Amino acid sequence: MIQPVDRQELQRQRQHMQAVRSLLDAEHLATGRRRAALIETYGCQQNEADSDRMRGMLAEMGFAPAEDRAQADLILFNTCAIREHAELRVFGNIGALKHQKQRNPNLMLGITGCMMQQPHRVEEILSKYGQVDFILGTHTFYLLPGVILGLLQEGRRQALVAERTDAIPEDLPVRRESAHKAWVTVMYGCNNFCAYCVVPHTRGREISRRPEHILGEVRGLVLEGCRDITLLGQNVNSYGRDLGGEPDFADLLADIDKIEGDYRLRFMTSHPKDATQKLFDAMANSVHVARQLHLPVQSGSDRVLAAMNRRYTAAAYAELAARARAAMPDLVLTSDIIVGFPGETEQEFEETLALVRALRFDALFTFAFSRRKNTAAYTMKEQVPKEEKQRRLSRLMEVQQEISLEKNRAHLGQVLSVLAEGPGKGGLLQGRTEGGKLCYFAGPQCLIGQFAPVRITEAKTFVLYGELSGSH
Ligand code: SAH
Ligand code: SF4
Ligand code: F3S
Repeated sequence: MIQPVDRQELQRQRQHMQAVRSLLDAEHLATGRRRAALIETYGCQQNEADSDRMRGMLAEMGFAPAEDRAQADLILFNTCAIREHAELRVFGNIGALKHQKQRNPNLMLGITGCMMQQPHRVEEILSKYGQVDFILGTHTFYLLPGVILGLLQEGRRQALVAERTDAIPEDLPVRRESAHKAWVTVMYGCNNFCAYCVVPHTRGREISRRPEHILGEVRGLVLEGCRDITLLGQNVNSYGRDLGGEPDFADLLADIDKIEGDYRLRFMTSHPKDATQKLFDAMANSVHVARQLHLPVQSGSDRVLAAMNRRYTAAAYAELAARARAAMPDLVLTSDIIVGFPGETEQEFEETLALVRALRFDALFTFAFSRRKNTAAYTMKEQVPKEEKQRRLSRLMEVQQEISLEKNRAHLGQVLSVLAEGPGKGGLLQGRTEGGKLCYFAGPQCLIGQFAPVRITEAKTFVLYGELSGSH
């Protein structure tokens, strides 16, 4: 069983934070200026959650938050490796900082996250990008204070990457971007090895956080007034397997749901092969769990699904979706689809379109297959040409957009509970419905951070418009 990171290591990092703080406080006193830090986060919520912790550590170390790159004395790119496009953006941005670093030799530049779990990328950065001062991987990001201290005191360039997590760092300081929304990791890593996916290589094997740590964090958030809490894991349904099977994810959800307060609970992501009736029942019987399920299907072709190593068929997926909807008739169901997986024929792509038409998701995240090093699909023959992938992507999006619009129109006239998250465009407030749909409505600023009853008056493909309703 995985233990929390040993206390001594965390204690050491706390001492490093204090040491950095003393240096920066002294500098502030002498110059009248505080160093500012900026984290740019790429990729998924897992990275957002890690960034929240790094932001917390930076604040403890005495860095002020920077508004933009030009203002920053420390810039951190928390990177993603899921598709080539994500990696190219990071390289472009590191390149763009070369001149800023020449102008400001005190500027510190660090790269963290999933890209840095790939040895060929670390190699590339170290050899070609002299402006990068440090590298931390997904399993070592909590060593940030020591790395910054080393840089400040001795100008020491470091790359600290570990192949796996032996221990989960609990009780790190956290600084979230929103007071109303939070990510809570329930498990790290993934054991599934879908043929296209780099995540098991960048995040390592599945490790569950202990339930008491998760419950403690959620309780704290609810007390602080947080209204929208998303439980995170690459495959939340395998939660607890490494803890002896109990509690499983449905049990955990039911336990968290008992925490009293005015909040909504969400989770992502569920793998269809592990989603259970017990989970749907736990959702349906809960007070706080939003009627929203993100259940990535990836393809509508059984041959492609098998080649992807997804371990379910299109029919099994359809049955699962039907059961989830039977348990929760107002469920908002969303999914992910990859087009152009190696060997995907036109006929197989048509099967995906047929599945999308039949299942009528509320929204779909669509991706063109991207070849990732170290994955099984990397060496597969019959790669689909780029233009063909783009064509399939456009067709799929076209089909889905019509469905999304129809689904959104079904909300017209309904009064939905919308969490007002902040100011939106045109002087309106912006928020999310229980199902996670974006909604704009007119209302006073004091509603921000509150649930408001909103009557839906206009529906577009990606957004709902509404007005405050007197009656709930
Ligand atoms: N663990 C989650 C999601 C991981 S990544 C899950 O299993 O659902 C989010 C989405 O990115 C995936 O669902 C998939 O649709 C897409 N994706 C992952 N690897 C990809 C690749 N190599 N090319 C294109 N899309 C990819
Ligand atoms: Fe990647 Fe599959 Fe794991 Fe999701 S379940 S992270 S797609 S390997
Ligand atoms: Fe990207 Fe890593 Fe998430 S590869 S999608 S940031 S787990």
